[in-house]
Amino acid sequence: MVNKRSSKIKTVYICSKCGYQSSKWLGKCPNCEAWNSFTEEITGPLEKKKKDQGSNKIKTLSGINIRDNQRLLSNIHEFDRLCGGGIIPGSVLLISGEPGIGKSTLLLQIANAYAAKGKVLYVSAEESEEQIKSRADRLKINSDNLFILSENNISIIDSSIVKLKPIAAIIDSIQTVHDPDLDNSSGNASQIRMCTDILSQRAKSEKVPVFIVGHITKDGSIAGPKILEHMVDVVLYMEGDRNLDFRILKSNKNRFGSTFEIAVFEMGQHGLTPVNDPSSFFIDREKEQLPGSATVTIMEGTRPIMVEIQSLVAPSTMAYPRRIAEGIDYNKVVLISAILEKILGVKLNAQEIYLKVAGGLKINEPSIDLGIAGSILSSYKNKPVEKGTILIGEIGLTGEIRAVPYIQQRLKEIEKLGFKKAFIPEASMKKISHKFSSLEIRSMKFINEIENLFSNSGKAYKNEKQTIS
Ligand code: TYD
Ligand code: MG
Repeated sequence: MVNKRSSKIKTVYICSKCGYQSSKWLGKCPNCEAWNSFTEEITGPLEKKKKDQGSNKIKTLSGINIRDNQRLLSNIHEFDRLCGGGIIPGSVLLISGEPGIGKSTLLLQIANAYAAKGKVLYVSAEESEEQIKSRADRLKINSDNLFILSENNISIIDSSIVKLKPIAAIIDSIQTVHDPDLDNSSGNASQIRMCTDILSQRAKSEKVPVFIVGHITKDGSIAGPKILEHMVDVVLYMEGDRNLDFRILKSNKNRFGSTFEIAVFEMGQHGLTPVNDPSSFFIDREKEQLPGSATVTIMEGTRPIMVEIQSLVAPSTMAYPRRIAEGIDYNKVVLISAILEKILGVKLNAQEIYLKVAGGLKINEPSIDLGIAGSILSSYKNKPVEKGTILIGEIGLTGEIRAVPYIQQRLKEIEKLGFKKAFIPEASMKKISHKFSSLEIRSMKFINEIENLFSNSGKAYKNEKQTIS
């Protein structure tokens, strides 16, 4: 008997926040507890396309070859590294980020870089050809291999990929393309899923990498990208403060490379330029060392990056003094303040603590604990941490300094960047086999040894400019 269900159009309801599926509409998602997040979606036609023709496609694992030299390189080195050494043909990449962050700019630059090797199709469903041309002029891009299509109908986009046979296709953005076979409008969850599915089938059948742009809002609440994450091979997030020049591209998922890598770009008059030494972006080694400043190292994927933490500890007249943290988890700051208060007897309960990460970066890893403590203490004492010093270590609730991973990589980078001294957990000392010639490494076992940070830094800091005449 023929199974009628497979050809029947089926309606499901999908939570636009987390992708949870239900056969009925629900007011509140049982998975992520979001309200009014369910949208209707039609799944029938997709199932129809995937007819049972399985057995002749089965291969032995050893019979499948992946050739690394098939990876498509843009020669924008930072981008290629982020993608795990180039893009695998047939893969689908999602580039998401807030509107205006620079996604179209980056992709036009990448498209232009690929165009040196073959035909590239750039589809814009939200901008006209003239708008793309004017951006290209600004970026000084003009290639005969770069094909522009201003179109939002997915069938036309799909057939254009087949006709042009590009080495890469870019769809900007998925929220603005639509499938006329579905009733609902562009940007709807079912439209996004259907269009992505069509594009990803085309990517696989034509062995062409497809880049999909997906917008998210400040709170990440637009349905698209969250649902899309499950459907694509690589997810890259572009973030940064629009008022600042740097843009960070993070890989949150990569089926063909390591995740949590970052690439840093600088947005300038003529587009994005890769920043090869991101630490130079987040710390200023020339400037005078001031009280409240401490430098830490964070691991972004496999790469250590130096970041400056700044604190301002000031007497408070309030019953509950404020603690404000920008770029660092608020609870971490409260916890470290409590450790300093309880174990070292630092009277922070009558002090306001403002803490931020210089450069607008968001950081969150245990190894920055010692830097947070050093920065708070430095501001409280009004004494700078010795110039050229890096602080590495997690602080336990009992005040012990705990080991951190990748100590050797961090120290090598620290030495390379010309820092003179690093305070590290004693427990991490045994992990070091490399001989450091210009870097002094000092170990710390317990939080009370943090006083050592200031023992060499001489007199209390006095800044004449602070006095208002
Ligand atoms: P855009 O790529 O359009 O962002 P998205 O596609 O993520 O919405 O970038 C928009 C911003 O980038 C805009 O505010 C202008 C700025 N920009 C530059 O600063 N320099 C440039 O060369 C370009 C092309 C854009
Ligand atoms: Mg755009």
